[in-house]
This record gives sequence, C-alpha cells and structure tokens, in this order.
Amino acid sequence: MKNVPADFLWGGATAANQFEGGFDQGGKGLSIADVMPGGKQRMQLIHDAAFDFELHEQYTYPNHEGIDFYHRYKEDIALFKEMGFKTFRMSIAWSRIFPNGDEMEPNEEGLAFYDRVIDELIAQEIEPLVTISHYELPRHLAIAYGGWRDRRLVTFFERYSRVLFERYQGKVKYWLTFNEINGAQFMPMLSLGVALQNEENHLQTTYQGLHHQLVASSLATKAAREIDPSMQIGCMLIAAPVYPYSSNPADVQVALDEERMMNYFCGDVHVRGEYPAFAKRFFVENGIELKQEETDAAILKEYTVDFFSLSYYMSRTEKADKTTDMTAGNIMNGVKNPYLKASDWGWEIDPGGLRIILNKLYDRYQKPLFIVENGLGAYDKVEADGAIHDEYRIDYLKAHLQAMVEAMEDGVEVMGYTSWGCIDLVSASTGEYSKRYGFIYVDKQDDGSGTLERSRKDSFFWYQEVIATNGQAL
Ligand code: BG6
Repeated sequence: MKNVPADFLWGGATAANQFEGGFDQGGKGLSIADVMPGGKQRMQLIHDAAFDFELHEQYTYPNHEGIDFYHRYKEDIALFKEMGFKTFRMSIAWSRIFPNGDEMEPNEEGLAFYDRVIDELIAQEIEPLVTISHYELPRHLAIAYGGWRDRRLVTFFERYSRVLFERYQGKVKYWLTFNEINGAQFMPMLSLGVALQNEENHLQTTYQGLHHQLVASSLATKAAREIDPSMQIGCMLIAAPVYPYSSNPADVQVALDEERMMNYFCGDVHVRGEYPAFAKRFFVENGIELKQEETDAAILKEYTVDFFSLSYYMSRTEKADKTTDMTAGNIMNGVKNPYLKASDWGWEIDPGGLRIILNKLYDRYQKPLFIVENGLGAYDKVEADGAIHDEYRIDYLKAHLQAMVEAMEDGVEVMGYTSWGCIDLVSASTGEYSKRYGFIYVDKQDDGSGTLERSRKDSFFWYQEVIATNGQAL
C-alpha cells in the first residue's frame, strides 16, 4: 500500500504565455514572452545584450497563438476533468491585467477571462493553483524600466497581486509568486526581463533584481494575509541535487557551493526570511552590494511562505575541473553524468534525484513540498489510426512518481504533483511545439501548421488510472 494521502493534489501544469494564445486580445499588452522568437536559437537570441524586445519579420512568435487555450479552455478543462485532475496549475498573464504593468487600474476584460477559466475549474471541482508571474513580464516594464533592475517593479507587482487576491478570494486558495525564482541566477532575461549590458556587473544586476523579486514576493504574501488569511502562498524554485563528479574533495566542494546557490539561496529567504550565511562571502567576492530599503529585512522575515513548490527535471553533476563534457539543461547545465541517460534535448533523466532533492529540502525547511513541474519533452508520433503510443513518457513519469512516493515514505510531506505541460504547449527554452510534454496531443507543428485539434495519448489513460487509484497503480 503506497502512502499517499487521500487529499493529495494530482494534476497538471501550464503557463499562460506558453498555451493561451490570444496575445493581443481582450486588451492584453505585449509581454517579454511575446517577443521571444521560436526555434532552437531562442535562448541565445534573448540573452544577447542587443536584444531589443521588438518583433522582427524574420522570426516566428509561437507564443502568440500558443495552443489557443484562450478560446478552447472549456474543452481543455473537460479533458483535465476526464483524467481526474484534482488541481490545475495555470499562470495569469500580468499583461492581460496590467497591459503595460505600471497602470493604476487593471484591465477588466483581462480579469473577466480569468473569471471564466477559474469558474469553470471550480465547476469541474478542480482546485486552481495560480502562478502570479511565470516568465511573462509586461514588455513595457522591460523597456522603460530595465525590468527587475528597477525597484519600482516591487510596487507594480504588489498592486497586481492585490488585484488578483481581491478578485479571487474564496475561489483560489493556492498561489505561487514567481515561477522558478532562482532561475534568475541562470537566465536573467526570462526571470527578470533584463538584457544584461556588457559594461555592467552582471552579478550585481542579477542579484539586485532577485532581491527586488524576493521583497515583492513577501509583500504579496503580506497582501494575501490581509485580504484572505486562508490563502496559501508558496515559493517556486527549480530544484536539483548537485552531485560531485567524484569523491575528490575539490569536486565535493564545488558541488556543495553550486547546490547551496541553486536551492538554498532563494529558498532560505522565502522560508527562513533571511539570506543564508554563505551569501555574504558570495556577495563580497563578486563585488555585489545589494541596495536594500530599511524595511526590507523585516518584511522578508515576517512574510515567509506557507509551502515550498518546485520543478524537477534533472539533477546536476559538478566538477572542479570543468573541461569535461557539459550537458544541456533547461536553465542550468553541469558536466555529463556517466550513469544517466538523456532526453532527445540532452536533459539527463534521473528519477532517483527527485527523491534525494525532496529529502534535502524537507530536511532543511520542514515545509510541505509541492512538485508543480516534472515531465519529459519528447517527439510524439501520431499513428495512422490517430493513436499516440508514448510509453517513453509513461516510463519517465512512473519512475519519478515512484521516487516521490519513496520520499513520502522517508517522511517527506508532499502536497501534490502537477506534471508539466499536461497538454502540449510551446517550449519555454526553444519555442518549439515539437518538444511535447502532454497527456493530450495538440495538432500544431513548428512550421505553424495544424488544426489545434486535441487527442488523448496513451499516457492520458495511464495517468487517469494513477489518479483514480490515488497512486496505488504506480
Ligand atoms: C521550466 C519552466 O523551467 O521548464 C517551464 O518553468 C518550461 O516554463 C519547462 O516550459 C520545460 O522547459 P522547456 O524549455 O522544455 O519548455
């Protein structure tokens, strides 16, 4: 008998910019995701200092259409219901609510769209789990303010969060402030809307922007407590254990350093309300001087999170001598681990790493954990009869869920699991449709063709059974 509580939140996860489409409808402003070109060169293009946040004719912009959830949300929610979802993770596109980000009043049409989606979820008895900011900063804030470099974004984010909490109190209980907040350390453009310039100290800009987000997250938590104390606010980090490549103490030290910066730097501020001891040396050695307002320390200390959510795709391996082969990865990479196989995109597959990181995070924080992203990006083939036999995805998810259950048996408290891209959507790192994660196939191809028709993959029925048996079928 597997030890899964009866109220475990099984479900799936998405982000507005990767699946809604309707990028210019209902009064929505452009977000930074709307100006990110599709294709494998995406990350390279957006991390160039010259990235100008404009639309250019030679590129395609798949996030504009996404998979058109904007118009098909009822049909999609019906499919989630059919799978038995208890929860659905979605994000709200900031630029639907505040098209430029710095207005005083929200866009009613944008809110009305989310009213419809949230009401439909509730009607289907699916608990909404809402990310307030998922790599979709209003473009205007990136251009006019330099993104999260600018302290004024703290006020804009707080205003935006208050609008959401007031509107959805009594309807949405679970909130995440920033998706993969620690991702700013690896990809400042996606997380902070910052095009780093050659002449600036990159680490200074990145950690200042991150500090602004951490304060903004605490202020949002404060707002939630004032508006509806029953709301549960979570942080969200990309999490991974970092393994030393060998037992050479130099490798062990590098792995420890990387693991602390990756998992605990932001985690400690969110959960313990203060920067960890090791941050001081890091700041000094890198010439970082955080500009903090007098009240920041007290705000961070008082408004910590209720639960800790994470994405998990892979572990990392580190070595003091980095001349070895490197792996690919979503926002971070390490050296190749000889014990692991990788996906078609070079992301190493390590279910055991999930059990390890869950234990590590629970040992450190003793907060309920929520896995809000995990999954396999893979090419799918539609057979002549329309079937999609994605046993590779079932194998991946099964192994990770088994590892999660093991961690729960170790004593770790896990609230729920939402697999990433439960319906095929646009990849964040490459802007491809062909990198598919879903239980539900969407007929949309990288060249823009396709009917957008939805169909059930084999994994759809597998996950349905997992949920129906509350994990006993694993
Ligand atoms: C996570 C992001 O890092 O990885 C998602 O929160 C993203 O937005 C997911 O889609 C998978 O990455 P990718 O690049 O395969 O879409």
